[in-house]
Amino acid sequence: MSSSLSRTETLSLFSLFAACVGIIANTFHGDGEPLIASIAFSGIAFASTYALIRWLGDVFIRAGLKGKDMSKRNAPIIPETMGAVCAVVYLLIIIVFIPFPFYKDIVVATSGGGNRDFIVKAEQVETGRFLHRFPHSKLASYLSAILSLQSVVILGLGDDLFDIRWRHKLLIPAFASIPMLIVYFVDFGVTQIVVPKLLRPYFGELLNLGWLYYAYMASIGIFCPNSINILAGINGLEVSQSIIIALLLILNDLLYVLPISPSAPPHPATDSHFFSLYLLLPFLGTSLALWTQNWYPAKVFVGDTYCYFAGMVFAVVGIQGHFSKTLLLLLIPQIANFLYSAPQLFHVVPCPRHRLPRFNGRTGLLEPSMADFTQKPLRPPVELVVKVLGNLRLLKTEEDEEGRVVRSSNFTIINLWLVWFGPMREDRLATGLLGMQIACGLLGLWVRHSLALLVFTADNWSLGISRS
Ligand code: UD1
Ligand code: MG
Repeated sequence: MSSSLSRTETLSLFSLFAACVGIIANTFHGDGEPLIASIAFSGIAFASTYALIRWLGDVFIRAGLKGKDMSKRNAPIIPETMGAVCAVVYLLIIIVFIPFPFYKDIVVATSGGGNRDFIVKAEQVETGRFLHRFPHSKLASYLSAILSLQSVVILGLGDDLFDIRWRHKLLIPAFASIPMLIVYFVDFGVTQIVVPKLLRPYFGELLNLGWLYYAYMASIGIFCPNSINILAGINGLEVSQSIIIALLLILNDLLYVLPISPSAPPHPATDSHFFSLYLLLPFLGTSLALWTQNWYPAKVFVGDTYCYFAGMVFAVVGIQGHFSKTLLLLLIPQIANFLYSAPQLFHVVPCPRHRLPRFNGRTGLLEPSMADFTQKPLRPPVELVVKVLGNLRLLKTEEDEEGRVVRSSNFTIINLWLVWFGPMREDRLATGLLGMQIACGLLGLWVRHSLALLVFTADNWSLGISRS
């Protein structure tokens, strides 16, 4: 891989970088225009990640961070863990961004020149009349988001370096969720859910889940990172699915943030959706840069660091923005892949180290990869279920002459796609799966914004809760 940038690339990246710096310098007035600043920071994130990935490729290979592209002839070795570059650029950008959403409050609190004594005099503190209330809780949730993301990146790097075992991997993000759950507890603390109309005679309008609600949020923190990591193994899939989810979340945020008419009062959840935009836009910037290098034929791999990091970004915005149910509606393919994978993940059916599709060197196409049961035959009830799934075309199965199932396709929706539509080239497979991700996501958003009103009678707005 060539590690230097071409002249055109250098020129375009530099122009983008300079333009974004110019835009940011211009935001220091009025409310500070944090959204404009966030978009400009995302441009900087794109330019920096793009250049760094190209510069660091060889360094990563020398450090042993490399992987074999198994779906190509001669299985070339390319740099892995490039998600670490994304994550580091992202973290630095959102740290530098901290003052921007609070610019207005900082100006008021310090009278503009950093002079704290100017407004808040002793007698005013007593009466409290002029005491400006800085939104510490918002700052706390922003900082805890950074802390959660940082923890998951450290743990993800550990996984890329030392190949942690699966049962331990599952728990990695649980620790990383703790900072954001604590801030949720202190700051928001709502553990009630709105009960669907049908069940109201039994449970009332709101049901308090108590600590179960925290268990639910922690599970989202565990699910998002891992579900992206297991819907992986073909060029571009990890980062493209993350970009699509991020774009759909941004679309959902815009539905709240953009005023329907100029005179309409802002939606009560506006602030949480701005928070979500500030975290998602730079994520989109770094991910798009990674995408250009990871799409078929991949020049770099994203590594587990990227999968954990991306999943945690979604968990953090979903939980702190109070729209975890909407988030789950955008993860339908990931949920389907997890449920379909469950027999192999929980070792009811043998699970090989890699379940990515098998590359056929003769045709150059991908075929479903197969799990072998000859060493460890399936127990009769499991075998029966596998046979039924085979008959329903939900698996490809092979039987020996005694009618025992000896092999079946691996339980991922990537392989299922190949069972349904036949062998195909890697990029066509990725495009098909991503088309499905977009369709499911748009359907999810439509369900959220139209059908949900029928099930819950009213939007959360009229119930006085800003969780959606
Ligand atoms: C998860 C999956 C595993 C899948 C792997 C592929 C489960 C339980 N685990 O494991 O089945 O095979 O991801 O990412 O579902 N690779 C390619 N082409 C790609 C991407 C990856 O050949 O486009 C290969 C490379 O050799 C790369 C390796 O996969 O080095 C990365 O695998 P890793 O992320 O370590 O696997 P897991 O996340 O443990
Ligand atoms: Mg992985």
